[in-house]
Amino acid sequence: MSSEKTFHMTPDEFRRYGHAVVDWIADYYSRIESFPVLSQVKPGQIRASLPEVAPEKGERFDTILNDIDKLILPGITHWQSPNFFAYFPSNASGPAILGDLLSSGLDVQGMLWSTSPACTELETHVLDWLVPMLGLPGKFLSSSTGGGVIQDTASSSSLCALLAARERATNYTSNQKGCDGRIVAYASTQTHSSLEKAAMVAGIGVNNLRLIEVDENFAVRPEVLAKQIEADKRAGLLPSFVCATIGTTSSNAMDPIAEIARICRQHDLWLHVDAAMSGTAALCPEFRHLQNGVEFADSYCFNPHKWMFTNFDCDCFWVADRKALIKTLSILPEYLRNQATEMGAVIDYRDWHIPLGRRFRSLKLWFVIRHYGLEGLQHHVREHVRLAQQFADWVRKDDRFELVAPVPLNLVCFRHKAGDEANQIIMDRLNRSGDLFLTHTKLNGKLTLRLCVGQTNTQERHVVNAWKRICEEAEEA
Ligand SMILES: Cc1ncc(COP(=O)(O)O)c(C=O)c1O
Repeated sequence: MSSEKTFHMTPDEFRRYGHAVVDWIADYYSRIESFPVLSQVKPGQIRASLPEVAPEKGERFDTILNDIDKLILPGITHWQSPNFFAYFPSNASGPAILGDLLSSGLDVQGMLWSTSPACTELETHVLDWLVPMLGLPGKFLSSSTGGGVIQDTASSSSLCALLAARERATNYTSNQKGCDGRIVAYASTQTHSSLEKAAMVAGIGVNNLRLIEVDENFAVRPEVLAKQIEADKRAGLLPSFVCATIGTTSSNAMDPIAEIARICRQHDLWLHVDAAMSGTAALCPEFRHLQNGVEFADSYCFNPHKWMFTNFDCDCFWVADRKALIKTLSILPEYLRNQATEMGAVIDYRDWHIPLGRRFRSLKLWFVIRHYGLEGLQHHVREHVRLAQQFADWVRKDDRFELVAPVPLNLVCFRHKAGDEANQIIMDRLNRSGDLFLTHTKLNGKLTLRLCVGQTNTQERHVVNAWKRICEEAEEA
């Protein structure tokens, strides 16, 4: 008693509604500046507007799509608004969104080469493209000893790097035996909190993650790092891993990679470089001096989903020695065995990160690189840096304000001289106004405002207006 009845969307319906969704997105981008950048809803407000229980009967697609405007948009903080200056950006672009849509349409699961060869080979190829585009060392190429892989986030990359370092330092025994509390990792007080989480997850323990003091520019002090490693060795511990940052989250500080690399080589430590946002700047040769020494890194990551116009999630992670990474993360159960893997002729990316399953993320990255070309990417990165530098100049010339950290690229850390309370008031008023969104940090114990120029569509007029609004609120504060 078979039935032809189906609840699925037909291909014709999909085409019609798909066009409607693309239209919706295009309209959203053309009206995005009319929304308050920071969502103004109260906690629980969105849930309170949703039905208590799931629908028994399917609903019409246009009804569902209408609810995006009615129920969801009020609870959206508009990361893609050109007036978004908060945190670090998470920027998107037309080619990236369309590449991601195709990835959803194909919906392949690329855990093994054989489960969709194009998913693996395009990823390897695009990550090889990026090595010379970013001035990274040739050892990161798949044709050399290393190779690149797309991870969801920089947090995952750092965790994988730490795991591989842990294994290498223990002669590949800690996966079997567990950690004995002797492995030590190093970062700075300014390193992203994901390293602390990685130390927890990797079984290193937060007490064995040394957060090294920084200098007046918030960059790690290599001489303090060297002394700490020596002291740990004398105490019978096993120093194994250093994370250096190109562009710290709080203030965009640049750790001195070359000096840190020298210390790592001397003590045989794994050097991981986290360039989550600022790595994108290396597309422009004039900013590459910020990564001097990267040729000595064992691993490196940056997030195209932050500043390279590729929508979330997309983190590129390279290692110099892929064998170390694969040896750390490889497990081959019977049900995944296949001829291509057995022959050793292919990359199986499941061995390069934590999850087994993986999306076809390289499609959106491929689209972005092909749409913009290196020239287009460089143009927009340079423009963002120019606008941030211009903003920094306005701050410098205004007696009411001060810069709190160097401005190497596109993040400006500044404060009103009237103190923490005044800065808090200025920021709260700006964010409540919906005209722009910026966030804060604490530097030298003082509340500091951060303005990061990196949203895809931010232009000069948005930065000019941001400064005008900041000055207006400063008058009131
Ligand atoms: C320097 C740095 N590393 C790591 C991260 C974490 O990024 P993700 O969300 O990709 O894990 C950030 C986030 O802003 C960051 O700035």
